Amino acid sequence: MEQFDKNFTNLWMPFTANRDFKSNPRVITKAEGVYYTNSKGDKLLDGSSGLFNTPLGHCRQEIADAMYKQLQELDYSPHFNTGHPLSAIATERIAKLLPDDINRIYFTNSGSETVDTTIKMIYTYWRARGQGQKTVLVSRERAYHGVNLGGVALAGIVNNKRFFNVSYPQVYHMRHTCLDENKFTRGLPEKGAELADDLLRAIAIHGAENIAACFIEPIAGGIGCLVPPKGYLKRLRKICTEHDILLVMDEVITGFARTGEWFASQSFDVEADIITMAKAITNGAIPMGAVATKQEIYDTVINSSDDNMIDFFHGYTTSCHPVACAACIATIDLMLEEKVDERVKNMSQYFEDAIFKLQDLPVVKDIRNYGMLATVELLPKDNKPSLRGTEAYQKLFWAGLHFKATGDNLIIAPAYVMEKEDIDRIIELLRQELSKMKP
Ligand SMILES: Cc1ncc(COP(=O)(O)O)c(C=O)c1O
Repeated sequence: MEQFDKNFTNLWMPFTANRDFKSNPRVITKAEGVYYTNSKGDKLLDGSSGLFNTPLGHCRQEIADAMYKQLQELDYSPHFNTGHPLSAIATERIAKLLPDDINRIYFTNSGSETVDTTIKMIYTYWRARGQGQKTVLVSRERAYHGVNLGGVALAGIVNNKRFFNVSYPQVYHMRHTCLDENKFTRGLPEKGAELADDLLRAIAIHGAENIAACFIEPIAGGIGCLVPPKGYLKRLRKICTEHDILLVMDEVITGFARTGEWFASQSFDVEADIITMAKAITNGAIPMGAVATKQEIYDTVINSSDDNMIDFFHGYTTSCHPVACAACIATIDLMLEEKVDERVKNMSQYFEDAIFKLQDLPVVKDIRNYGMLATVELLPKDNKPSLRGTEAYQKLFWAGLHFKATGDNLIIAPAYVMEKEDIDRIIELLRQELSKMKP
């Protein structure tokens, strides 16, 4: 394998310690199945499906073929005022996976765009219903809803907010549900459902008549697999319904079978008004995201404009890209063909048992999991949160494992096509490096 000799001088990387990266670049040159290859020619197991977005494994021929074919037939057409055949087919495919009454789909290019699009959609909806004063949003501590300004306002992570003084939209933050007494719980924790009543506090402060929506990640994935306590989401749903507040399930990570059903709202049997999605929608092959709404929301918005006038003043030049739609259709077809929902259900127990084998390591502070998603949270090093997580990530990269580290959380999200031996190998590599660390 030829050594990669570029120095990345001109590159500015996202969510990265750029100076550190440039002093010792971690370069991925190839991907196949559940493996990456680095620039030294070593193979790495991809323990987090890229960034949760390649659950079918890498470089799937069927997806590449569909994209190539589409590129030769219709490389691009504007999504403002024109449709293309694959836009109809892709939305039909997605709608079939969603809960029955969530069936109107608006495309974006990422999770962040999806969240900000949703906020604007909600404002347009309430205005159309003659309640334009409903602008306050409710979110949670430790929430991650992407990096655009609406998403930053919703965020409950200090480093994602402290540099950006977003004063609009106004957001009330409920408490998070990651409780000490639930440490090392397998699956849904027992304690904490009553924290949903924080939504009542928001109502007490702002008045339900001013609250537009409550944004929730059914499982907060990016921050480290915060699994909802039993009954928590249903309680939120009830309060939303009683007070005419929309419930948005941000399923950018949990969508497309990560929890064993197509969407986590289905796993937890909680009715959302809006479901957002992005990762895994094209198996990572090309950017795409989508907002899916109840028909009533769509009807209200599109019937609010005069004839032949635009109903929703929002859109992206590249959304609903024909090549992304081709990748999305091919991805969903493969997911259905390979029955990935059943596969996740069948493999989840094995994965849970495997990841909890790390519980005895002194450096491990907590383990949380649901479906094919788990976090091994490490004790912080030298009172500097995230230092140990970063070190673990870097060591494991060179030892042959890639995963997503957030703070001191090592987030493992295996591809659905992984075999038991692959999962065993992930655990083996984690044990190998984590057992060297002193708490
Ligand atoms: C719940 C949630 N919403 C939004 C986003 C943002 O997605 P993207 O990185 O595609 O902009 C993420 C990313 O991890 C996410 O987890």
